[in-house]
Amino acid sequence: PKKILILTGGGDCPGLNAVIRGVAKRARKEKNWEVYGSIEAFNGVLNDPQEIVRITSKFTAGIHVRGGTVLKTTNKSNPIKFPVPQKDGTVKFIDRSDELVKKLKALKFDAIVNIGGDGSQKISKVLYDKGIPMIGVPKTIDNDLSATDVTFGFQTAVQIGTDSFDKLVTTAESHHRTMIMEVMGRDAGWIALHTAIAGGAEICLIPEIPYDIHKLVKRINLRYKKGRGFVNIVVAEGARPKEGTITSSAGDKGSEHVRLGGVAFQLSKQLKDAGCTAEIRETVLGHVQRGGTPVAYDRVLATLFGVKAFELALTKDFGKMVAFKNNEITAVSLEEATQDYHGVNKDSYLVQAAKGLGISFGD
Ligand code: F6P
Repeated sequence: PKKILILTGGGDCPGLNAVIRGVAKRARKEKNWEVYGSIEAFNGVLNDPQEIVRITSKFTAGIHVRGGTVLKTTNKSNPIKFPVPQKDGTVKFIDRSDELVKKLKALKFDAIVNIGGDGSQKISKVLYDKGIPMIGVPKTIDNDLSATDVTFGFQTAVQIGTDSFDKLVTTAESHHRTMIMEVMGRDAGWIALHTAIAGGAEICLIPEIPYDIHKLVKRINLRYKKGRGFVNIVVAEGARPKEGTITSSAGDKGSEHVRLGGVAFQLSKQLKDAGCTAEIRETVLGHVQRGGTPVAYDRVLATLFGVKAFELALTKDFGKMVAFKNNEITAVSLEEATQDYHGVNKDSYLVQAAKGLGISFGD
């Protein structure tokens, strides 16, 4: 029989299990294929003893409904820059790609499906160039890959953001408060912007549009003056003020020095220092946005990605990453997959429409 190996790398993301199941179910239809999984990305291959499991129908039964990844994952498995902790507490990075290639060749897999974000696809490209039959599947809640119009996990993250936002609205309303809700997204504002539109935020701050704190204070004060006694703000973890607009101790570097969990509190302090008198409360959603069951859209997209990945293996179409473009499941070269970063365009219709709805970006 032919053998296909699946692995999941980088941060987890709702829909990973649906991809694994999609590959396995489609492979089962071909009769002469066996499906395997490497535990914790490539660590399952590199470790001694190796951790490679057989993916049977029992293994995949019902997993599309579950968040996370049944194959486990880690941020510490990059074979090109493999972290080795030193005795003095520092970490040395070594290149283990040749060792990995040797081990993969010895295992004689006919195809390897690497489900991961930007970093994982760069690894796929290096391995493919060294003769390994690689196929990529894009994964990120941040939706920041340019080679695919959407990624699975994004809709789930936006849904969780929106559900949380709705809850914050009722408490903001009751207390006449200004609520700041921080969402994930790394250096992109997709999750924040979609959540702000879905929830009906007054203010949305994203990394692609640096904000002027004084404009935000004006906007908040005006809303209270008009008798609308509460404000809801969505802030992306990577949002930052315009250079030189912050003079307070809260700093003006945004997420560069306070990543994940710091931005909401930083913004709160900046607003107070700039004269905002509203009572402010901060909420950081954090990893809640990556947990739990994927919404139906993400399950469908992830499952189709899995089916397509296997079909690429079947036709020996290696060195490609599956993608969703112009309403179709397709594939792009790993070269193209790892080229551009895809953030929110400040001149896009999405941003203009949000502004038309009265959402302020503080620009
Ligand atoms: O890329 C996905 C993501 O969840 C980002 O939105 C966030 O910045 C980051 O990963 C968090 O990483 P970690 O899980 O390592 O804390």
